[in-house]
Amino acid sequence: MTTVIDGKQVAASVIDAVKTASQALKDQAGVKTGLAVVIVGNDPASHAYVSSKSKMAKECGFTSVQHTLPEETTQEDLAALVQTLNKDETLHGILVQLPLPKHFNSEAIIQSILPEKDVDGLHVVNAGKLATGDLDGGLVSCTPAGAMVFVKRTHGEDLSGLNAVVIGRSNLFGKPMAQLLLAANATVTIAHSRTKDLAAVCRNADILVAAVGRPEMVKADWVKPGATVIDVGINRIAAPEKGEGKSRLVGDVAFDECAKVAAVITPVPGGVGPMTIAMLMANTVIAAYRKAGKTAPKF
Ligand SMILES: NC(=O)c1ccc[n+]([C@@H]2O[C@H](COP(=O)([O-])OP(=O)(O)OC[C@H]3O[C@@H](n4cnc5c(N)ncnc54)[C@H](OP(=O)(O)O)[C@@H]3O)[C@@H](O)[C@H]2O)c1
Repeated sequence: MTTVIDGKQVAASVIDAVKTASQALKDQAGVKTGLAVVIVGNDPASHAYVSSKSKMAKECGFTSVQHTLPEETTQEDLAALVQTLNKDETLHGILVQLPLPKHFNSEAIIQSILPEKDVDGLHVVNAGKLATGDLDGGLVSCTPAGAMVFVKRTHGEDLSGLNAVVIGRSNLFGKPMAQLLLAANATVTIAHSRTKDLAAVCRNADILVAAVGRPEMVKADWVKPGATVIDVGINRIAAPEKGEGKSRLVGDVAFDECAKVAAVITPVPGGVGPMTIAMLMANTVIAAYRKAGKTAPKF
């Protein structure tokens, strides 16, 4: 019997734990956790993400600050705002929604966020801490952190003896995911567009993580019987069966056929997706605990 992971339910359990932790910090140290979210320009999808992040921060009992800047904002103005937020003692996390409009040097903006407030986990200091195995000192990128919650709830904290394959080597997901799996003692392979015989590589995986951006690329005969399959891809494809011009979301894994072979699998939507925002809240409360000199909770 295949287990289909309910990402919404797991995300809700993480959010509950975040609420408890933020309340405890308020009660014990008089510190209210604070998150600033910055959005530049008019991209509707980014606006939807940002408003759900701000709303969730409020639900978690945080101070939630949103800065909505016009498309024509300059690099200097945005850099100045980041400096102001860096200095604001009431804010423990800063998130600049990506992608920024094309005229920005995004990397310079991201690297100007104080590492201890970089709740997206994209600063080189945080990437470096993860790469050196310092999981308790830095902040981990939210989507891989969320995918890892699924892995640990399925296999426990120690992945000794298990083979993990991550398809995708992006800084945002593939590399940090591979490092999290490695830190948990899995034997890790990172596959990408230049990998030879990808299907055979994947068939070796006890834990297969797909983060490619290609609809339903992973087929049933790529999956080792009994494997755990985590689908990170979000792809919008045409759905003429729903009516003319309609579309639907699918992952990088051909869900129906792979679910017949895997022991555990995540759906799209409703799998990894809801975890990203939950882990953003988790990172923010972790940052607040550290700033208050307290041992941060684990999620
Ligand atoms: N909140 C969420 O749920 C969330 C968050 C982040 C990302 N995502 C989704 O996850 C997917 C990946 O995101 P990303 O930011 O990591 O994407 P990305 O930066 O475009 O990276 C894609 C990776 O897939 C590899 N790849 C492309 N075609 C391939 C092929 N035919 N065979 C094997 N590997 C191939 C690329 O290899 P090369 O390096 O060789 O080019 C690259 O490493 C997207 O669908 C994205 O929407 C979801």
